Amino acid sequence: MKKILITLAFAAGALFTSRQSSAQLTGNAAMKTFIDDLMKKMTLEEKIGQLNLPGSGDIVTGQAQSSDIGRKIKEGKVGGLFNIKSVAKIREVQKVAVEQSRLKIPLIFGMDVIHGYETVFPIPLGLSCSWDMNMVERSARIAAVEASADGINWTFSPMVDICRDPRWGRIAEGSGEDAFLGSQVAAAMVRGYQGNDLSKNNTIMSCVKHYALYGAAEAGRDYNTTDMSRQTMYNDYFPPYKAAVDAGVGSVMASFNEVEGVPATANKWLMTDVLRKQWGFKGFVVTDYTGINEMMDHGIGDLQTVSARALMAGIDMDMVGEGILTTTQQSLKEGKVTMAQIDAACRRILEAKYKLGLFADPYRYCDENRAKTEVFTNDHRKEARNIAANSFVLLKNHGNILPLKKTGTIALIGPMADNKENMPGTWSVAANFEKATSLLTGLKEVLGNKVNILTARGSNLDEDSLFEERAGMFGKSLHRDSRPASVIMQEALDIANRSDVIVAALGESSEMSGESSSRSNIEIPQVQKDLLKALVKTGKPVVLVLFTGRPLALTWENENVPAILNVWFGGSEAGYAIADVLYGDVNPSGKLTTTFPQNVGQVPIYYKHKNTGRPLEDGKWFSKFRSNYLDVSNDPVYPFGYGLSYTNFNYGNLSLSSNALKGNQTLTASITVTNSGKYDGQEVVQLYIRDVVGSVTRPVKELKGFQKIALKAGETKTVTFTITTNDLKFYNADLKYDWEPGEFQIMIGTNSRDVKSGKVNWTK
Ligand code: BGC
Repeated sequence: MKKILITLAFAAGALFTSRQSSAQLTGNAAMKTFIDDLMKKMTLEEKIGQLNLPGSGDIVTGQAQSSDIGRKIKEGKVGGLFNIKSVAKIREVQKVAVEQSRLKIPLIFGMDVIHGYETVFPIPLGLSCSWDMNMVERSARIAAVEASADGINWTFSPMVDICRDPRWGRIAEGSGEDAFLGSQVAAAMVRGYQGNDLSKNNTIMSCVKHYALYGAAEAGRDYNTTDMSRQTMYNDYFPPYKAAVDAGVGSVMASFNEVEGVPATANKWLMTDVLRKQWGFKGFVVTDYTGINEMMDHGIGDLQTVSARALMAGIDMDMVGEGILTTTQQSLKEGKVTMAQIDAACRRILEAKYKLGLFADPYRYCDENRAKTEVFTNDHRKEARNIAANSFVLLKNHGNILPLKKTGTIALIGPMADNKENMPGTWSVAANFEKATSLLTGLKEVLGNKVNILTARGSNLDEDSLFEERAGMFGKSLHRDSRPASVIMQEALDIANRSDVIVAALGESSEMSGESSSRSNIEIPQVQKDLLKALVKTGKPVVLVLFTGRPLALTWENENVPAILNVWFGGSEAGYAIADVLYGDVNPSGKLTTTFPQNVGQVPIYYKHKNTGRPLEDGKWFSKFRSNYLDVSNDPVYPFGYGLSYTNFNYGNLSLSSNALKGNQTLTASITVTNSGKYDGQEVVQLYIRDVVGSVTRPVKELKGFQKIALKAGETKTVTFTITTNDLKFYNADLKYDWEPGEFQIMIGTNSRDVKSGKVNWTK
C-alpha cells in the first residue's frame, strides 16, 4: 500500500480544520483517523447517501444546481456520478457537493473509459491480440491521462470476463478465452490506469468488471444465466479478476448474472468470502447499472429485500437504481441490515475518495488547461495508431498478396470503406466520432497520389433495415443506401473491374458487438457475403479487411478469399493503422485470443478443452463413438494464438534442460526461431503445458507463457522459458491450489495448434 502524505488543505472543508494535525500522519493511519472523524459527524442518511451512484441523467451546464441530482447532492444523498463529460460540468456539480452539502464531501466521477478516452484504442479484444503488455499498459495510461484531464477520476475498466462464446456481443470488451493471458492484460490495465500513486492528478481509479462469470452467459445471450462448477470458476474464469485485485485495483463491479442460483449482486460467497476473505480485496464494490433492482426480476424479492441482500452480501455502492438509498433505513429498523455493514460500505467509498486525493482538493481533476492540452494529442494519436496496427491479425495471405504495392489502382469497396463513426468500436463513450479516421481517409494519407483509389459502397451492412438500425446505435450511423442491392453492387463491380486489386472493407458494424448485441448467426451478413463472392469472381486479387467485434465463422472466406486481415475496431486512428499494415509500413503481428469456429454449432469451442473419455484420434475427421460431429470436423478455422506475418518464422526443435525433475527444481525450455522471410517482423512465441495425469481431469493444453520477439529478416533467436512448479498449479476438487507430480507435456509454438513438444517427469 502506497504512502500518501495527506494535506488537509481542502479549502472548503472548514469542518475539517480540526483534523489538520493528522497531516503529520502518513498513509493508512492518517486515512483512518480522517475517516473516523468524518464518519462520527455523519448521519445515517448521509452514510447511506455515499452508497448512491445515481444516473447523471440530463446534467446541463449551468443547471446542475436546480436539477434533481443537484437537490440530492445538497442533501448528501449522492456518493458519485458517472458518464458526465467535460471539466466545466464536473466542476459545477462538484461545487454543489463541496459548497452546499452539509459535510462537503466531494463526489467521485466515473466513466466507461474502456479502450481510450478521446484518443481511442482498439476494442479490448483487439488490444489483447497484440500480446504486448507494455502496449496494453500504455493504452490505459494514456486513457487515464486524458480522462483525468477532463475531470474523470474513476473508470469502469478493465472488463476481464473470460468468454468462450462468440455469440455474446460483449466478447468485444474483454481479452478473449484464456485466463492466463487475460490475467496479464487485467494487471497491465490496472497498472496503466492507477499508476503508482492514485492521488496524482493524472491517474484514475480502476474498476475491474463484471465480477463474476458474466462471459459465460448461456447461449451467448446477454444477461443470461451462468452455471458452472467451482473448479471451472477457479481455474478458468476467476484468475483475471484476481489478477486485477493482486495488482491493487481500487474497485470491483458486480455482474448482472447469477452465480450458483444467486445473482452476483447478492452473492455473499462471491462478494465477501472469495473477493475479500480469500483474495484480500480492500477496495469498494459497485453494482452494475440497476443491478440491485433487476434482482426483483431474477425473482429473489422486492426492492427492500434485494437491496438489503446486496448490502449484506458486500455491495458498497448502488449504480442508478437507488434501492439502497430508499430502503436501507427501513431495513435497518427491521434488522435486515446491520449498522456495521452500512459503516463498512460508507468507509470504503470515503477511502476511495481519500486515496484519489479528493478531500485534499476536490477539483484535483478539474484543470481546464489540462483538458485543452492533454486530450487527443498528436502524441497520443501516434501511439494509438501504432497500437492499433499491432492488434490486427493477418488470417490469410495466399500468394503473398499483402503487403500491397504503392502503385496502380485499388478498388476500396464495402459499407466500412468510408465510415469513420464505426471505427472506434463499441463502448467509446468519450470519443468524438467526427475526429475518427475512416479507412478511405487513412489510405489517402498513407498513399498520397501514388495510388489511384476508386471507391464504392458495394452493399449495405445488412439487407434488413431494422437489423441495421439495431446495429447502428449511439450515433454510429451506417448511412444506409436506399438503392436496390443489385444496383449498389453493380457500381462496385464496375470499379473493381478497373482496378489492380480489390480491398473489401466488410464485416460487422461497431454496435453489432458490445452490450446487448448478441448474435445467433456469427457470419458476415449475407448481403456483404454476396458482394464478396461477386468480387472474388471478378478474378482480381481480393483483400478482405474484416471489421468485427467477435470471432466470426469464416469458413467460406478462408477457402475462397486470398487475403484476410482482421482489424477488429481499431479506434480513432484505425483508418491510418489499417493503411499502414496493408501497405507494409507495419508488418502485422497480432495473434488471436479467441478461437474462430467453422460454424456457430461448434460453439463453445476453445483450445483449453478437456480430452474426454472418447477423444477423436489425431488426424481424423470423424470416428463413430468418438467425441465429434457428423457434419463438421472438430477443428476451428483459426485456433487460439493464430496469426500470420508478412515474413515467415521457422521453429527449430524444442530443447528441455531435463526430462526428470524433483521438487522445486526449475526447467528451462528453449527453441530457436528464425525469420526466414523478406521482412523484419515480430512473433509471439507461445508456451503450453499439459498435465497428463491429475487427480481431476486436466485440459489438453494450457497457455503458461509467451514472449513477443522482434526478428530482422534472416535473424535467428533462441527463446527460453523458465518453468517452475508454480506453473503447474491448479485448483483441485477441494479447490486447493497446488501441483501434482507426474508427467507433463511441454509445448512451444506459433499458435495453440502448431507446437513442438517434449516430455518431463516431475516428482515431489
Ligand atoms: C454495463 C457496464 C457499464 C455500466 C455503466 C452497464 O450497462 O454493463 O459495463 O460500466 O453500464 O455505464
